[in-house]
Amino acid sequence: MAPQVVNENESGYLPPLKTKIDSIQNYDVVFVGFPTWGMKLPPPMKSFLKQYDLRGKTVIPFNTNAGYGVGSSFETVKELCANSKVLEGFTMKGGIERDGVYLVIKDEKAKEAEVKVKQWLQKIKIIK
Ligand SMILES: Cc1cc2nc3c(=O)[nH]c(=O)nc-3n(C[C@H](O)[C@H](O)[C@H](O)COP(=O)(O)O)c2cc1C
Repeated sequence: MAPQVVNENESGYLPPLKTKIDSIQNYDVVFVGFPTWGMKLPPPMKSFLKQYDLRGKTVIPFNTNAGYGVGSSFETVKELCANSKVLEGFTMKGGIERDGVYLVIKDEKAKEAEVKVKQWLQKIKIIK
């Protein structure tokens, strides 16, 4: 049997989200963070980006993955946010859920992440 995410990607299923955001109109900049699933944007993220009107806003993607990269996820964010300004995303290797490896961004890796995130935020001119 194919994994759930493969089936959901094939059928275009958009899982309903539990969290509702009432004040999205108050935000000019929206960071969207997600893991790579099946080398794509996870279906709940597609639900989110289709549910909320982000036109005219700046959208900034960031990602963790098990070492295989972002796949098509950043491209899909751009497609689903065609009327937003989508900035260059950030990615780094996180845990490997399949192998029970969780919450790896701590200690030395947290320091590395902090440096890299800062460099990225400077590059995309979010901080000086
Ligand atoms: C359903 C599912 C599919 C996944 N597919 C991929 C994949 O295609 N490529 C990849 O590098 N990691 C894949 N992963 C691993 C996750 O991206 C990784 O565990 C996650 O980014 C870890 O994030 P964290 O350290 O923030 O918890 C998958 C995980 C799950 C649960």
